[in-house]
Amino acid sequence: MQGLFRVAVLPGDGIGPEVTAQAVKVLKAIEEVLGPMFRFQTGLIGGAALDATAVPLPAETISICNNAQAILLGAVGGPQWDNKRPELRPEQGLLQLRQRQELYVNLRPAKVLDSLVNLSALKPHLVRGTDLVIVRELLGGIYFGNPRGIFSKNGERMGINTEVYREHEVERVAHRAFQLARLRRRKVTSVDKANILESSRLWREVVTRIARMYPDVELKHLYVDSCAMQLIERPTSFDVILTTNMFGDILSDEAAMLTGSIGLLPSASLGERTALYEPVHGSAPDIAGRNRANPIAAIASAALMLRYSLRMEAVGAAVETAIEKVMKRGARTSDLPGKNRPVTTSRMGDLIAAETKKILKSSKFRLQ
Ligand code: IPM
Ligand code: MG
Repeated sequence: MQGLFRVAVLPGDGIGPEVTAQAVKVLKAIEEVLGPMFRFQTGLIGGAALDATAVPLPAETISICNNAQAILLGAVGGPQWDNKRPELRPEQGLLQLRQRQELYVNLRPAKVLDSLVNLSALKPHLVRGTDLVIVRELLGGIYFGNPRGIFSKNGERMGINTEVYREHEVERVAHRAFQLARLRRRKVTSVDKANILESSRLWREVVTRIARMYPDVELKHLYVDSCAMQLIERPTSFDVILTTNMFGDILSDEAAMLTGSIGLLPSASLGERTALYEPVHGSAPDIAGRNRANPIAAIASAALMLRYSLRMEAVGAAVETAIEKVMKRGARTSDLPGKNRPVTTSRMGDLIAAETKKILKSSKFRLQ
């Protein structure tokens, strides 16, 4: 008999705790039907960790994560920590965790369901059929490059950050993108700014070289500005978008709006060690603590965890179907347009947990 899956739960800041609680609720609902499965251990990260321990990623959290088979994270950041020194900002907790776990690839799927096409910020005929994944490089580029800092020169201060990509960093994330494309529509669009940046020229050269190992996958290159435009103009033309840390950060927020709300998009960060699952959205301090946030991105992140880390494909799919069903029935949190009165965060969690249980109990459900 297999032991329990150890899941590190890091709620973080703002709406993080509220939405993570709903993801845990759904996982517990699964246990009610299939029996004990998970052992949850909660840790501090971000601003919550700064307040309690004076660092954004305490040693205890690191050890909880090292001991876990998957990490479920809420969000980090908030205005009350904005004046902190750069190394003591909440975001550093997340960046350090990504580094420690060597999470070099971040998958951000954006899919527009036919039945929910009206949620999109765009006209239905433009977004219908959109089904793309952004493969964002997560450990390189301007987020981590040196030199960086604010320096004084000739009596004036200047801020410096550096975009750096080493060949092996591009190679490993490119392999992931091509492998993923093979499970989908076999199309990779690599996004860079090779008309201006040397780091992008190297990126493009390496991606082109790796593509030769995947002759069955079509590769296209796009400049990031053009990609930003085409995402709005013809989102259905994309399958896998492979891009750098910074461009991926920006384009994934844009892609979120194709589906209707950033509150819907989950992400998976994978690499050499324990994988991390988190919503694409941030801590949304303006609505924090008001039971108004959309927990779907957090619940869908837990579904990705079930699929990728715990190899429970069918259970992950059941959670995704439950989300879809609850939304089809018209339940909407206040970030989404809808005819009915918006439901609260915890109510949305209850509905999805109940629907998940129903699916798992149905005679059609098969664990394998
Ligand atoms: C994201 C976030 C993070 C990032 C921040 C919170 C560090 O915006 O995951 O997209 O920039 O990567
Ligand atoms: Mg972001």
